[in-house]
This record gives sequence, C-alpha cells and structure tokens, in this order.
Amino acid sequence: MRDIEKQIEKMTGLSLEEAMSIDEVNLYDRLGEETFWKLSKLFYNKVYQDEEIWFRNIFKNRDIEDSIQNQVEFFIQRMGGPQYFSERKGHPALIARHMDFNMKEKAAERWLFHMKNSLEETPEIDDDSKHRMLNYFTHTAYFLSIGVTQHQNKKNKRNVRF
Ligand code: HEM
Repeated sequence: MRDIEKQIEKMTGLSLEEAMSIDEVNLYDRLGEETFWKLSKLFYNKVYQDEEIWFRNIFKNRDIEDSIQNQVEFFIQRMGGPQYFSERKGHPALIARHMDFNMKEKAAERWLFHMKNSLEETPEIDDDSKHRMLNYFTHTAYFLSIGVTQHQNKKNKRNVRF
C-alpha cells in the first residue's frame, strides 16, 4: 500500500477496500442521473451559502451552475455511468484540478460536512449506497487534501531557494 493510503487509513479509519466499495455495485444504474443532479445541487447550495466565509471563499471565483455540472458529470462517470466529464473536460486529474485552492484538512472536513448533510437530505439514495458514497468521498477528500498540500509545500520550498 502506498504511504498516502496508509496515512488516509490512519486519519479516517477506513481501509482502501471500504473506500472503494462504490465499485462493487453500479451506483449509476441503481440511483439514476436525476439523483446525482439533486445531490450536487443540494451540496453546492450549501457551499455557496456557507456561513463559514473562509470556506465559501474557496469557491468565490466560480459559477455555481458550472460547479454543479462539473461535479455531477464526474460523479456519474466515477460511479458507473457515461464518461460525461472526460468527454467534455479530459482526464479528471483531481489533484491538479484542486492545486489552486485551500485544501487543508479543515477544508476537507467542511466539504464532507456539507456532503454528508446533502446525502441525508436525498431520500432517493438508499442507506447502502449512502454508506458506500460517504466512504469514497471521505477517502478522496483526504487524498486530495494530503496530495495538494504536499505539492503546494514543495512549490513554496522551491520559491524560497531561488
Ligand atoms: C478539501 C475538499 C475540497 C475542496 C475545498 C474542493 C474545492 C473545489 C473547488 C473550489 C472546485 C472548483 C469548482 C468548479 O468546478 O467550478 C472544485 C472542483 C471539483 N472538485 Fe473539489 N473540492 C474538494 C473535494 C473534492 C472531492 C472529495 C471530490 C471528489 C470526490 C472533488 C471533485 C471535484 C471535481 C470533479 C471538480 C471539477 C473540476 C473541474 O471541472 O475542473 N472535490 N473543487
């Protein structure tokens, strides 16, 4: 297992197998496109109206409609549906696409807080699917937080030296 995966397991208590249990079933077939749209609309409405201004500000130069579309297309693709995201935008390359944002652990926690509440508010998502999705989101949020922060630190060190 890679170091980063061990680190995530330690932080979240989730094994890689648990985190990737979204791949044991086809969640796209099970839930349908409309459910993914509903989830992402709920999520981004919470994010863009967050009372925690520092978190809301991470998204300040973005457009909510675009953000929803990007997320829905990625989730659909990742959870067994058509490759909408890659057809429109290329490889997901999630670490690279988050490089300019505040991705500290606190941001991952806040992202997950809103996602957990959005899952709770989507009754179309049954408990088994909810559990699988939350495990995957938790793993990925920490994966991105650690991955992006490592890159940002390396870049800062280089800037100090030259
Ligand atoms: C620390 C937690 C996170 C923060 C602060 C964060 C922040 C952001 C921001 C600011 C954007 C740009 C919004 C836009 O598309 O207009 C974005 C895009 C995106 N995020 Fe995250 N994100 C986080 C975690 C995640 C996780 C866990 C996933 C996947 C499970 C994810 C998937 C995506 C995708 C697919 C995009 C669209 C990228 C693109 O189209 O270029 N993010 N995120």
